[in-house]
Amino acid sequence: MGHEILDACCDVEVNHSDEPPSKSEIMQKIKGKDGLLCLLTDTIDQETMDSERKLKVISSLSVGYNHIDVAAATKRGIYVTYTPDVLTEATADFTWTLILAISRRLVEADGYVRQGRWRIAWSPTMLLGSEVHGRTLGIVGLGRIGQAVAKRAKGFNMRILYSDQARARDNVERELSAEYVALDALLRESDFVTIHVPLSETTRNLIDEAKLRIMKQSAYIVNTSRGNVVDEGALTTVLEEKLIAGAATDVWEQEPTPEDNPLLRMNNFIGAPHIASATFQARSKMSELAAMNLVSVLRGEMPPHLVNRDVLNIRPLSSARVI
Ligand code: GLV
Repeated sequence: MGHEILDACCDVEVNHSDEPPSKSEIMQKIKGKDGLLCLLTDTIDQETMDSERKLKVISSLSVGYNHIDVAAATKRGIYVTYTPDVLTEATADFTWTLILAISRRLVEADGYVRQGRWRIAWSPTMLLGSEVHGRTLGIVGLGRIGQAVAKRAKGFNMRILYSDQARARDNVERELSAEYVALDALLRESDFVTIHVPLSETTRNLIDEAKLRIMKQSAYIVNTSRGNVVDEGALTTVLEEKLIAGAATDVWEQEPTPEDNPLLRMNNFIGAPHIASATFQARSKMSELAAMNLVSVLRGEMPPHLVNRDVLNIRPLSSARVI
C-alpha cells in the first residue's frame, strides 16, 4: 500500500481524520514539506501553494484533478500527479451497476420487499422497468472509462453512440463499434446516456436543462464523472416533470449532498455517495500509485502519471530531487 512506499523514503505526516482538512489546516500542515498527497475533497489553490515555497509535488489519489489549480502549480514548478487506469474497470462496473439498477428499479424493489409492501405474490405489471439489451447507449466522453463502459455494452448487444471534443482513433471506434455523433444527436437518440468527461470550465453544466429536454421521455441518464457536469436543479425539474424516465448519480454538485436535496425524494432517481472506484482492489492500487507518483518526483524521476508536462520546462526533474 501507499503508506509503506512513502514510509520507506520520506518523513510522513498523516491526517488520520476522515473529515477533509480545511484550507487553513492544509496550509499549516504543508509547512516545510516537499510533497503533498491529497484527496479529491482537498481544494488546492494558488494561496495554498504559495504558503509553502518548498512544495515540489501534489499527488492526488484520484483520476479527477479539478480540485487542483493545475495552471498555478505549473507556474510555480509544482508537479501535479494523478491515478488513472487503476480505477477504470471499477468505475465502469459501477456505471453499469447504476444503469441496471435504475432501469430495473432495483432500489425501489428492495424497499418494496423490506418495507412489507410486497403483498401480492406476482403480478404481470409489478415494478415494470426498461430493457437494457439491444438498446442505444450514449457515452459522453470516450476516454478510458467511457471505453470500458462501451466494452461492457457490447455484451448487452447495444448500439453505441459517443460524443467527445475529438473523435477517437479508427481502431477504437471499430473495436467498440462506437459511432461518433454530436452531443445533441446523442441525447436525442440514446435510451441510456452516461457521462464520462472530466470537470473543466468547458464541461461545467454541459448537461443543462436545454440538453436534458432533448432526451427521450423513456431515456435514463447516469453520471459517474463529476456532479457539476450535470445541472442538478435542471435534472430535478426534468425528473419531476417526467420528461425523462430516470437518473442515477454517484457524484453531486455538493458532496455530501444535503439531506433535503429534492432528488432524494424521487423514485425515478438513485443516488450513491461517490463510490464508483470504491473496490478494495482499485483503492489499494490508487494508494500505491499516488505514493509512487509522489516519491518519483522527489527522487528526480519521471512519475508514472504526470498531469502537467509543461512543468518539466519550469523545474526540471533533477532539481525537484530531494531524496
Ligand atoms: C474519483 O472520482 C476520482 O477522481 O478518482
